[in-house]
Amino acid sequence: MSSSPPLPDLQKRHLVLGLTGGIACYKAAELTRELVRAGATVQVVMTEGAEHFITAATMQALSNRPVYTSQWDARPDNAMAHINLSREADAVIVAPASADFIAKLAQGRADDLLSLLCVARRIGECPLLVAPAMNREMWAHPATRRNVAQIVADGATMLGPATGDQACGEVGDGRMLEAVELRDAVIAFFQPKLLAGRSVLVTAGPTYEAIDPVRGITNLSSGKMGFAIARAAAEAGASVTLVAGPVALATPMGVTRIDVRSAREMHDAVLPLAPSRDVFVATAAVADWRPVDAATQKIKKAAGQGAPALALVENPDILATVAALPKRPYCVGFAAESHEVEAHARAKLERKNVPLIVGNLGPATFGQDHNALLLVDAGGTRALPADDKLTLARQLVAEIAQRLCANP
Ligand code: CTP
Repeated sequence: MSSSPPLPDLQKRHLVLGLTGGIACYKAAELTRELVRAGATVQVVMTEGAEHFITAATMQALSNRPVYTSQWDARPDNAMAHINLSREADAVIVAPASADFIAKLAQGRADDLLSLLCVARRIGECPLLVAPAMNREMWAHPATRRNVAQIVADGATMLGPATGDQACGEVGDGRMLEAVELRDAVIAFFQPKLLAGRSVLVTAGPTYEAIDPVRGITNLSSGKMGFAIARAAAEAGASVTLVAGPVALATPMGVTRIDVRSAREMHDAVLPLAPSRDVFVATAAVADWRPVDAATQKIKKAAGQGAPALALVENPDILATVAALPKRPYCVGFAAESHEVEAHARAKLERKNVPLIVGNLGPATFGQDHNALLLVDAGGTRALPADDKLTLARQLVAEIAQRLCANP
């Protein structure tokens, strides 16, 4: 099980988690745990096929609720489990969804409790999220393709599948997403789509400027704030490209990542993309200078010769370059300062000619999961008080969306 701290993102959400027959049922156990940790209440419903792969007792223990397996369940006073369960739910998530169950959904068949409640739910109020899990040939089969297209046309949201090793030993499309990926996809589903149809380019992390093949100049930026902004923008419905310096963070779901090392590589990755994007958020802590010439071989210590002289040259300013493009995106810069955050942020607003600078205390936030932001623009200054970086990123995304609407 993941040891990450509890996330409040699904607080007050009541989810029906439907399991159908597939080996990926083992992942549904961890998914239940993750959804509960994220604050949701989870009502598990299992098909007969699912019960061949995992027991209802396991799912009851993890969800802390009795599991439903039959439309003939005698517990509801009105004998209408399919109505009661679907009326209470904020969403129905089918994970794993077998090829057979997707076929049933496509046809509107209702011969077991789970398919019955999917048909009985109020479509406009209780969305259906489907996480397929099957062999790659089954996923690629024309009948499955037709059925998936049909349920999407009927309003279902597909979560995955992923590509990779399959239980049968084959490799390809059809693996169910991992539990934490599904949890994040469910969290994203419920976020307001403030940037739907927009494209966002983000830089994140430090850069690394080589001195020789084993040494270099870098800084303490962890990339966490930039990755949180990329995730928040993707959750808000944007198509997101993240240009990341050397960090070991996981790529947020649905984000296209380009890894770079030096400031010049970051510049070369950003410049061709920037003119076609709606928003550019420069969170990277770009090294201001690099060694004039990186040595091709390791510089050796020689007795009595002292330290080598290190001649530096200035790196291109990526943000200022993008902001000077004739067709420029809405540019947001960051100012990581050690003191006088507002004054320095306002100076950068003018110097880099961008509409918004986000100030923060670099030494206090580098590597941490929390931050506090100061939004500085021509209209004034607004503080986003201390919080976790994802919460702040979502607030910043909302601020950016508001400004985009004001200046379309
Ligand atoms: N930035 C950039 N390219 C650089 C330097 C900075 O794109 N070569 C961007 C950063 O990503 C950030 C903003 O410019 O969004 C401000 O970066 P910062 O390092 O705080 O400012 P500098 O211009 O480098 O000024 P100083 O280091 O003197 O504070």
